[in-house]
Amino acid sequence: MRKLFTNFSQVITCDTKGINYKQGNNLSDIAALENHSIVIEDGIIKDVVPDSSLYKINPDQKLNFKGKTILPGLIDCHTHTAFAGSRANEFKEKIAGVHYEEIAKRGGGILTTVNAVRNSSLTGLIELIKPRVKEFIAQGVTTLEIKSGYGLDFENEIKLLHAIKVLDEIFPIEIVPTFLGAHTFPAEFKQDHKGYVDLICEKMIPHIAKNNLAEFCDGFCETTAFNSEEIDKIFSTAAAYGLKLKLHTEQFNNVGGLDVALNRSAISVDHLEVIADKDLNKFQNSETVAVLLPGVSLFLDYSFAPARKLIENNAIIALATDYNPGSSHILNLHLIMSLASIKMKMKMEEVINAVTINAAKALNREKQSGSIEQGKNADFAVFDVEDYSEIIYNVGRNLVTHTIKDGEAVFQKD
Ligand code: NIG
Ligand code: FE
Repeated sequence: MRKLFTNFSQVITCDTKGINYKQGNNLSDIAALENHSIVIEDGIIKDVVPDSSLYKINPDQKLNFKGKTILPGLIDCHTHTAFAGSRANEFKEKIAGVHYEEIAKRGGGILTTVNAVRNSSLTGLIELIKPRVKEFIAQGVTTLEIKSGYGLDFENEIKLLHAIKVLDEIFPIEIVPTFLGAHTFPAEFKQDHKGYVDLICEKMIPHIAKNNLAEFCDGFCETTAFNSEEIDKIFSTAAAYGLKLKLHTEQFNNVGGLDVALNRSAISVDHLEVIADKDLNKFQNSETVAVLLPGVSLFLDYSFAPARKLIENNAIIALATDYNPGSSHILNLHLIMSLASIKMKMKMEEVINAVTINAAKALNREKQSGSIEQGKNADFAVFDVEDYSEIIYNVGRNLVTHTIKDGEAVFQKD
């Protein structure tokens, strides 16, 4: 089946000429085209052609997108969408001045959500998460990462990963599962950290790998969570079982997580709000993606990651919502895009690459997704704008008219 998508105002390809990620000066190159159309064959991008050569194409189906701008399908590469319960009460406290880490130390925070997840059934969880995934799809998201991390025992971590697997089967977009058993220590292991690390390494990871329940193993390296030795032990086990690595690190404190992750060639290091200046050059020769999460800085009202300095140091930057109930209760990738520009001074073009091709790299999918290039999946987000700058200028507003996955519309605005 050959399809022709035509008559766009702009085609933002994010073309990388086969390199499949962007860094440094290239990060601001979105390879925008006017008067171009896209040819799709069996769900794959066959060609991006100038409109002057359309007479050569003989499509089975032709779709007219007059006045619209098309981007690669958006990729949210860091979310905790699989949660139950609400932490609105803790948010009230935070607004009154209580710190996120303070709430964590007294057994709230992540552990509040763990209680809610443990009290939910598998089907209850799936029903809770479904409308959230629908909202992401309506924003042009065609690949969505979702972490476990609110079960924190064997049964409940596996329950969360099962829920994520079922959602991937229900929805037409790609849902990428990440195991985050090392999110924090559950109450029953408060005095026995070694016991919990052993449970992760000896029971959880082997089961997850054997049953293909996750692609990535993530952790939280923080004073209130895991130290760098514990993360290293978990990472060495996860890597031996074939899981790729990600790490929440340098969020509030700098406790050695960055080095552990870079030394183990993690696919991404996420947060970096408090990365030390002396560590910035560690990205110079690294292909580990720096995933920045400005929603957390807004939601918790603290410092933003030093995006400009990271870009100067050649880091491969991606952006994500970090959608979760405690530190970024923000189910809106478009708002994150504008925030990155307004607060981290990322250029609009840099932002677009950071939620497409570089986000694909943060999920090890850069060869098949993230840009409008020949041979890649026909995944697109179509916006009702004549120029891409309108997307970021319209802060938090959803201007998506079509979300297209493998050449098929999976969302269409009425
Ligand atoms: O990415 N840093 C740790 N994990 C999440 C927060 C999770 C929560 O508070 O529920 C984050 O910020
Ligand atoms: Fe997170």
